[in-house]
Amino acid sequence: MEKFVINGKTRLKGEVSISGAKNAAVAILPATLLVNGICTIENLPNISDINIYCDILKTLGVKISRPEPNTVIVDTRFVSCNDAPLEMTGKFRASYYLIGSLLGRCHKAVVGMPGGCKLGARPIDQHAKAFEALGATVEIGQGKIMATAEKLVGGSIYLDTVSVGATINAILASVLADGTTTIENVAKEPHVVDIANFLNTMGADIHGAGTDIIKINGVKELHGGTYSIVPDQIEAGTFMLAAVATRGDIIIKNCITKHLDPLSAKIREMGAIVEEISGDTIRVCCNERPKNVDIKTLPYPGFPTDLQSPMGVALSTAEGTSMIAETIWESRFQYTAELNRMGAKINVQGKVAFFEGVDELYGSIVSASDLRAGAALVIAGIAANGTTEVHNLQYIDRGYENIEEKFRALGADIKRVTE
Ligand code: EPU
Repeated sequence: MEKFVINGKTRLKGEVSISGAKNAAVAILPATLLVNGICTIENLPNISDINIYCDILKTLGVKISRPEPNTVIVDTRFVSCNDAPLEMTGKFRASYYLIGSLLGRCHKAVVGMPGGCKLGARPIDQHAKAFEALGATVEIGQGKIMATAEKLVGGSIYLDTVSVGATINAILASVLADGTTTIENVAKEPHVVDIANFLNTMGADIHGAGTDIIKINGVKELHGGTYSIVPDQIEAGTFMLAAVATRGDIIIKNCITKHLDPLSAKIREMGAIVEEISGDTIRVCCNERPKNVDIKTLPYPGFPTDLQSPMGVALSTAEGTSMIAETIWESRFQYTAELNRMGAKINVQGKVAFFEGVDELYGSIVSASDLRAGAALVIAGIAANGTTEVHNLQYIDRGYENIEEKFRALGADIKRVTE
């Protein structure tokens, strides 16, 4: 077992470069199954979810080489339409993209019920509804999802809930379908747009990604090509909030500043400086105790749920009392119990948490309950007075590339220790 040992209290200062987006990468890799050819994917984050995905694709006959840690060459000319290995697909959430991809390519998909971070109920009814609208039959039981279709025919899909996963799965299943598909009430996250851009680069005909309605004209086949994954706006936001929480001064490079607008607005409201140096570089500087703010998590372009916990760390030592309402996931306040062990005063009442700002956090032994909670606890450890141990690093490694090296380069005293 590994843990981080962090000696606070450090004011982070310097530059950090952002990796490719995890939540785009975990959709683009399975989307290559729709291609009959060779795709080179660049700016791939080097994280454990990607390693698992490559291993799963290999079991489906895909040839994968990795000339560099952030580049993969994926040859999908000889895909075997077997069941995806249940023990591997059950390990993480994004395995559900195999359903849309295999359905599109093979007209048949058998995938283990997705696992992943425990954020509360994570239904997939909207994914099933989308596949059925295209003519597929979907069965869920015995720990797996089975989707089959003699033929996929374009249809109208109206999502009851704005869902990133269902939006992307609906796109994946309809790219090679006969005729036109429209998907309404879709997710508009940058990674949704990135999947559409990837597929269009390979010959798909997708319009409207990033707006409320996506229209897909089915094409006969997709060809290979080269694509570079969009920068990770959640990783960028994590470092922006690390600057606020540690009263630091960080220049964040290789990000798309526009994607960070919902967060930049809140950080400015907290009294910190957010300076857009260029379209791909942003600086966050916090010289004083942040002001209290209220936050409500919403689908993009609202405040992202994935930055709720790092924001919670910054609010723990802000002035007065702040409130966060979590509207996407029912169990995303587990990190607050760990922060309270570090001296925070957070009171959770159902979907709302109240953060009474304390003067400072102090070092403690804490455990990550999910990926973003893990990143939040690392930031808390860097900000806190004394030594903090963060356990359950397997969550953090799923989604942050070289997190300790990036924080160390900003001045943090953090080391990975094997117990
Ligand atoms: N929902 C349904 N039915 C469905 C699908 C979703 O009711 O069929 C509900 C969910 O229960 C939730 C809401 O819709 O309340 C939004 O869920 P969504 O489908 O958008 O989430 P997801 O696709 O499972 C992705 C990210 C999450 C991120 C959410 C929201 C991936 C692999 N995961 O999950 O990322 O929190 O969108 O933005 O893209 C993370 O990176 O730490 C993470 C958890």
